[in-house]
Amino acid sequence: MRTIRVAERCTRCPDLAANRSCIVHGYGAADAHVLFIGEAPGYKGGDVTGVPFTLDRSGVRLQRMLIELGLSHETDPRLEQPHLHCFLTNVVRCNPPSNRTPTRVEAANCLPYLWQELELVNPRIVVPVGNVAARAVFPHLLDQPAPPITRVHAQVFAHDSGWVVPMRHPARISNADLARFSEVLGRLLRSDPSS
Ligand code: URA
Repeated sequence: MRTIRVAERCTRCPDLAANRSCIVHGYGAADAHVLFIGEAPGYKGGDVTGVPFTLDRSGVRLQRMLIELGLSHETDPRLEQPHLHCFLTNVVRCNPPSNRTPTRVEAANCLPYLWQELELVNPRIVVPVGNVAARAVFPHLLDQPAPPITRVHAQVFAHDSGWVVPMRHPARISNADLARFSEVLGRLLRSDPSS
């Protein structure tokens, strides 16, 4: 399911509005305990499927991990609309030209949609994936600036109502770092009685 459908014709970022094939809203289970936040939909992934973290290399690596952790009901990590037991979204909802990193202004323009989603889903565990997401999540949930993602990858940060577990971006992460993250998240999920 997708939660946010209010921004169907958003033009806050002219470059992104001109480049995108579609606006990629958050996707997954509305009552998810775990919510992953990426940077922006990829041009070979979400911009094609309309679903965050699908089809491209980052998406397939992430979906494979979700299957292993029981956060996806599927067995094929290449599905365009997987049946998920978690929620996937991005800081920025449109694919940037040439797949570039979104600017800080573009991120700020899009953040109200993310905060609305966080309130609706109300997950116990938030996973900022990469620096762009960490820079949004750390001040908002942990009241501190984000350290570089390489320093905090797979660490668990507690706050009032849950945890933040940052992850390096799946396009840039080694298999060993991905396995380490999966191990930490799996342990946290097993220890959380509500999940
Ligand atoms: N796909 C997404 O939806 N977000 C990313 O950050 C990367 C790939």
